[in-house]
Amino acid sequence: MKTEIHRLVAVAAVAFTLSACGQGGGGAGVDTDTPEYRAMAYRQALMRVIAFKAGRVRGMADGNIPVDEAEFARSAAELATLAGMIEDGLAAGSDSDSLPGSAALPAIWSDLADVRQRAADLRTAAETVASQARAGGFQAAQVAASENIGPACGGCHRSYRQSDD
Ligand code: HEC
Repeated sequence: MKTEIHRLVAVAAVAFTLSACGQGGGGAGVDTDTPEYRAMAYRQALMRVIAFKAGRVRGMADGNIPVDEAEFARSAAELATLAGMIEDGLAAGSDSDSLPGSAALPAIWSDLADVRQRAADLRTAAETVASQARAGGFQAAQVAASENIGPACGGCHRSYRQSDD
């Protein structure tokens, strides 16, 4: 009930902001009801899910968290699937110059083929870990998990994600 009221207040606040600024926003108001905003929200949420799954896989491979063989293999496979979903979040106009809150650099849209390749690289790295784990268990996949997943994230972030510093 309380949550419901909060949600209504939030919806009313957004509606007020939109009507105050006119469609498309301006000033501090950001129009959240656009394909570009939805793509950004999707992309950032997907990245958080990817980070959690990659963190589990790499954490086990690096000896930082206890190994659960079944979860390791499953998470690697899920990570591969998630990597295949990155492309869906690349709507034009949702870059860091166009949309407040976006850390996706405009270079993504001038070099989309390379971005797709980087997403595919992460997918391949995760698929390799998953298949090695299925065939030979955690130990067979440990090195690939430790060495190949992190660079696949960094390879894309370095060129296409605005850094905080
Ligand atoms: C194909 C490119 C690409 C790959 C591969 C990639 N990322 Fe990202 N990531 C991005 C972009 C672009 C952003 C910025 C998204 C935005 O702000 O709109 C981002 C943002 C993030 C964020 C911040 C999300 C937020 O809350 O705003 C995290 C965390 C993240 N990535 C983790 C990872 C991890 C971990 C991996 C590897 C397992 C990875 N990413 C692989 C492109 C990529």
